[in-house]
Amino acid sequence: MRLRFVPEGAEVRVPSGTPVFDAASWNGIAIDSTCGGHGTCKKCRVRVVSGELPVDTVDPRAFTAEELRDGWRLACRASARDDLVVEVPPLQTRPKAALAGVGRHVILRPSVQKRHLLLPEPSLEDQRPDLQRVLDALDDLEPKASIELLRTLGGTMRAADFDVTAVICDEDLIDLEPGDTTDRRFAIAFDLGTTTVVATLVDLESGQPAAVRSMLNRQQPFGADVITRISTTMLDPQALSTLQERAHETMAELTEEVCAEAGVDPAEIYEITVCGNVTMMQLALGIDPEPLSMAPFIVAAHSFPSARARDFGVQVHPRAPAFIFPSLGAYVGGDIVAGMLATGLTRDRRLRMFIDVGTNSEIAVGSNERVLACAAPAGPAFEAAQIKCGMRAAEGAIEGVRIDDDDIGLEVIGSTDAVGICGSGLVDAVAELVRCELLDHTGRFVPDELAAEIHPGLASRLTRVGKERVFVLHWRGDDPSASVFLSQRDVRELQFAKASIATGWHILLRELGIEAGDISQVLLAGSFGAYLTPLSAVRIGLVPKLALPRIISAGNVAGEGAKIATLSYRERAETQSILREVEYVELSGRADFNDLFVDQLAFPG
Ligand code: FES
Repeated sequence: MRLRFVPEGAEVRVPSGTPVFDAASWNGIAIDSTCGGHGTCKKCRVRVVSGELPVDTVDPRAFTAEELRDGWRLACRASARDDLVVEVPPLQTRPKAALAGVGRHVILRPSVQKRHLLLPEPSLEDQRPDLQRVLDALDDLEPKASIELLRTLGGTMRAADFDVTAVICDEDLIDLEPGDTTDRRFAIAFDLGTTTVVATLVDLESGQPAAVRSMLNRQQPFGADVITRISTTMLDPQALSTLQERAHETMAELTEEVCAEAGVDPAEIYEITVCGNVTMMQLALGIDPEPLSMAPFIVAAHSFPSARARDFGVQVHPRAPAFIFPSLGAYVGGDIVAGMLATGLTRDRRLRMFIDVGTNSEIAVGSNERVLACAAPAGPAFEAAQIKCGMRAAEGAIEGVRIDDDDIGLEVIGSTDAVGICGSGLVDAVAELVRCELLDHTGRFVPDELAAEIHPGLASRLTRVGKERVFVLHWRGDDPSASVFLSQRDVRELQFAKASIATGWHILLRELGIEAGDISQVLLAGSFGAYLTPLSAVRIGLVPKLALPRIISAGNVAGEGAKIATLSYRERAETQSILREVEYVELSGRADFNDLFVDQLAFPG
């Protein structure tokens, strides 16, 4: 449906059935609201200027018959099933907004709300129950309470002389605090990665991060990638609970660190959001991951049932809920859904390609019209695990390579001597060797005589370690085997990885009936994608051959998506639309995969 908002004039396209409120919100158009879109505050008033928008059951409670005839509706109750022109009245309060994700302007509407209440004291004339007294004061909200809360509610009210603050999270009243605490509310956004876990403490008042910390996932000793960790659980019945504990320890430690850094009491954290690949989520929740590892690749649930922070071992407010990002399939998980949210992939008119480069690489292509996604098993080349001199992107790793005539320039992490090469360095090295023709387009090092002819200053670097031909990037003494080198097999590993990814996006383009040249932007995501040089990615054929400004290193978009979900429950609802709208394409078993894969092995000319 096409929706135009006046007087701003912004026009958007949304799937039929989208609430008008959401369509406005996703496009940065603010509509008044205090109830969280539950149809109780009656503040989200809009008027339909043209198009059909039926009267909802709640509308007659908010508008007079004449207003209804004039087209007034509550935006949160109105589903767009026709092209509409909608008038949005000026706001009574100016909403706060924050910049998040890839240039996203997110209107602050956290699920966590606080209300300062000065409650009338009970008397013989007013014998309302304690809970009713609070609910009546929250006239525009209708949250639910738990027995756990009732145990402390009356005591808190009386100790605070009925001057209290209600804490509401989505549809639940999770606490009553003494006095006015409305200026203190926080959430933590977790990006639970296979390698690294990132926690961002978000100040929900300002929308700004109050502290960010990351650390290696404590599951690391059980394998570098998801498949190894799944196998561990299959071999040892105790391993699932151990891996779950390790994930919890990692998240708990990060929580302590961000709280200490920002001077925030963990009890002031009322919610957490968690994104991660499906294996990480299932392991953290203690759900057997075995069915993920073999055909037909079945996930426990696309959308997890409601959970609490303590289900992740995170000690924050005891009733803090956990929002878990849904997944599209076994290998396109919540981290990718979070990335799509952060980049606005399903809402943007431009045709864009999203690639999260890693051991399992996820690819999505499309626009607000249609988005397809797939997972391409790239193998461990990018994590540098199978690379002879490979290492993680840590101190001493070559992360960038440049060859100028007969000179080699290396970018090394930290101020130290090069000791190995990480994924981005590997891509750079291969791209540069292809460019200066020391590697041919099939990925073979050229014969020594030819190397000596075209690059006399570099020819001595092309040598052998054992029987294998290698190119020495950084000499450590005279012995090539003690130096940092790139072997013929390393080049092959990278070729397989990039061919798998390129096959993935070729298949998606084919399914969409478009050409690579139709793509306006390529977003390279994930901790690896962020460090990849666009030029090298084009040179090795990892991404389509486009003008370089169209290829963007988007950084940790999964973490940004998790942050956005803490800032706005409306944006969070978008994850369900992503789930409905994005079509998952299974690559394994496709008849065209092998032929395309073989075509993609060579380096482009
Ligand atoms: Fe509150 Fe619509 S009634 S947002």
